[in-house]
Amino acid sequence: MTTIPLSLDGITDIPPGKLANVAILLQMFAPPEGFSPMRAPFGYALERLKGDSLERYRKLYRVVGGPWLWYLRLQLSDEDLTATLDSRDVEAFALSGAGGDIGILELDFREPGEVELAFFGLAPDAIGGGLGRYLMGEAISRGFVRGSKRMWVHTCNFDHPKALDFYIKSGFTPYSRCIEVADDPRLTGLLPRGAAPHVPLIEPQDNA
Ligand SMILES: CC(C)(COP(=O)(O)OP(=O)(O)OC[C@H]1O[C@@H](n2cnc3c(N)ncnc32)[C@H](O)[C@@H]1OP(=O)(O)O)[C@@H](O)C(=O)NCCC(=O)NCCS
Repeated sequence: MTTIPLSLDGITDIPPGKLANVAILLQMFAPPEGFSPMRAPFGYALERLKGDSLERYRKLYRVVGGPWLWYLRLQLSDEDLTATLDSRDVEAFALSGAGGDIGILELDFREPGEVELAFFGLAPDAIGGGLGRYLMGEAISRGFVRGSKRMWVHTCNFDHPKALDFYIKSGFTPYSRCIEVADDPRLTGLLPRGAAPHVPLIEPQDNA
């Protein structure tokens, strides 16, 4: 791992080819008061994805997460992704409608006593129509049904501009922030170069 000093009172240059973002961590300790999950909106269904659905999972992950530079799951080999999706402590779901898969919900119970809302989102065309609220109801009820004491999620400044507000309205409370630095997935080939135009692509030589 390469490290550089971080200025806590000013600007720190990020090396060529790297991306940096500020992530906010949010948590809840129980479903919000009066919480009750919604029924699936007419024409939509939630389906568990296991290790025999790698291509379907990766396609959905790219459709939902590509516009926001999600790349973590795209780095996993077939073997590692199969093991993740087949783990009894990971629950990944596809939300689908007439046009196919349009939403992802993934809960990670691997840390005892808590659950991470690891991936959560809708395809761009599906945002803003109430499906997020339905999907969050599923996340909260499924997340706490196993007896977890805490559910947490992280969102960063590459995500949808309303995501943070959405999580807060859904009952999460921000408790920490961190800086994430990683190789730009558009330069490593994990995502197309045109993905996420709100995060400008800087060629390493332009930065030299
Ligand atoms: C985050 C995301 C799922 C929200 O989806 P959405 O379609 O906007 O959600 P909804 O239409 O169901 O929510 C509509 C509204 O209800 C609000 N809402 C949702 N749950 C609520 C609740 N329990 N109580 C009160 N308000 C609530 C939302 O904040 C939103 O408010 P607004 O109309 O004032 O903006 C969507 O923006 C998305 O998929 N973004 C891309 C991926 C991403 O950024 N994921 C999060 C990062 S990990």
